[in-house]
Amino acid sequence: MIDNGIDKSRIPKHVAVIMDGNGRWAKQKGKSRIFGHKNGVRAVRDTIEIAAEIGVKFVTLYAFSTENWNRPKDEVSSLMELLVFTINKEIKTLMENDIALQAIGDLKSLPKNCYRELMKAIEKTSSNKRMTLVLALSYSSKWEIMNAVKEIAKQVELKKMTTEDITEENFASYLCTTNIPDPELLIRTSGEHRISNFLLWQIAYSELYFTEKLWPDFRKEDFITAITDFQKRERRFGKTSEQLSNMMQ
Ligand code: FPP
Repeated sequence: MIDNGIDKSRIPKHVAVIMDGNGRWAKQKGKSRIFGHKNGVRAVRDTIEIAAEIGVKFVTLYAFSTENWNRPKDEVSSLMELLVFTINKEIKTLMENDIALQAIGDLKSLPKNCYRELMKAIEKTSSNKRMTLVLALSYSSKWEIMNAVKEIAKQVELKKMTTEDITEENFASYLCTTNIPDPELLIRTSGEHRISNFLLWQIAYSELYFTEKLWPDFRKEDFITAITDFQKRERRFGKTSEQLSNMMQ
């Protein structure tokens, strides 16, 4: 039951990650920010490998936020190039390891080649079953929620839906994450204690884990530490401990 110090029977189904600190990591080394992003790819690999190994079913990585478009032009274009390059390079590994790729966000706003390569990889890996890697690209939660509201308003306007039809479940089906379970655990690196417009609806009951490690230094053992920490916590969903233990019996 116990492996690596973790309880295999209580692995979170979905872990979301805010990969932060690439810029600071590079600055500490007197290098350019893109050098930090390039070195962040190793941490991406480590995270995906260990998550699949221990049986996590979904990993969502915040790779590029809507706000990131405001970064210097050369950083944005280098990041886009890095994304295309990494997706192309890693697709073989995704296939070999039975991992499907998905993406959430305003994908149409991505550069054409980036969008095209992303769609190709999503299509190619779509039947893979072991785990799903979700990339949040040009994503922000406020954008996603606004989008859902507009879509629902349109349906009501067209009389295809009434306001009574708007339930939590129905609302969630208009988000990018429809068909993806909510994350039980959200990890953020680099010592920042913020959510930064990431999965605001979906993390309503998630456990939050913050580490000082800068993203390029994040390794498999850091992921395991986060899981171990998660497993020590009691998730109550607004219930009392007594109610929870009665439910378990
Ligand atoms: C945040 O660090 C990191 C990003 C905005 C980009 C992360 C992207 C990668 C690691 C490439 C990953 C590739 C794939 C395929 C997922 P920051 O720049 O905000 O760091 P700072 O806060 O120290 O400035």
